[in-house]
Amino acid sequence: MECQERRLIGDLIALSYVEGLSVAEAAKRLCVTRQGLYKLLKQLRNEGYVAEGPLIKITQKGRDLLSSVLRDLLRYFNIASIRLIGRVISGLGEGAFYISLEGYRRAIEEKLGFTPFPGTLNIKLDPQYLPYRRYLDGLPGIVIPGFTNGLRTYGGVKAFKAKINGVEGAVVMPERTHHPTDVIEIVAPVKLRDALNLKDGDIVEVEILL
Ligand code: CDP
Repeated sequence: MECQERRLIGDLIALSYVEGLSVAEAAKRLCVTRQGLYKLLKQLRNEGYVAEGPLIKITQKGRDLLSSVLRDLLRYFNIASIRLIGRVISGLGEGAFYISLEGYRRAIEEKLGFTPFPGTLNIKLDPQYLPYRRYLDGLPGIVIPGFTNGLRTYGGVKAFKAKINGVEGAVVMPERTHHPTDVIEIVAPVKLRDALNLKDGDIVEVEILL
């Protein structure tokens, strides 16, 4: 982390507490003057950490910086994984198509060390786990590069090794998304519905290695 970024961290963390509020409300909440907060916001906006607009909003660049702080803290406190809980849901049947593509299959074999069952198990996260999902969006993970197969271009994907009710697999997600959802997708060497006897609505625990 660069010195300039390090100087901003405290302010950015403070702003994360007041995201979505107006400057007047935020100033009150943070016990600072409105003028002082305007000045800070102007500086952070110029540097790309905060978005334009009447309400306080941290940009992707700002979120990336907060994520890197969280990653450092996790390391400092020896936290190697996070556990998310959600329910099995059915998707649109597209997972099988994507995971069967040679470009993705080969890269998963190489980077994750297993041949994926063709498909993704979709897990809808319980609401209290959504902030963690946002954190994953900001981390680099294991990059599965995009490719072109002559017909179409397929985007890069990032993965985190994971255990789903104790069975090895990985969480996969688009490399950079601005539309985080409450659904995570899992690839695994086995069909998890069979291996774990799962049906839609069943609760699963996903332990994600960071
Ligand atoms: O998108 P959708 O959930 O319809 O399915 P898919 O990604 O095409 O995957 C086919 C089926 O296999 C779905 O029922 C998935 O939930 C399931 N699956 C699984 O049980 N274990 C995996 N490792 C991958 C997919």
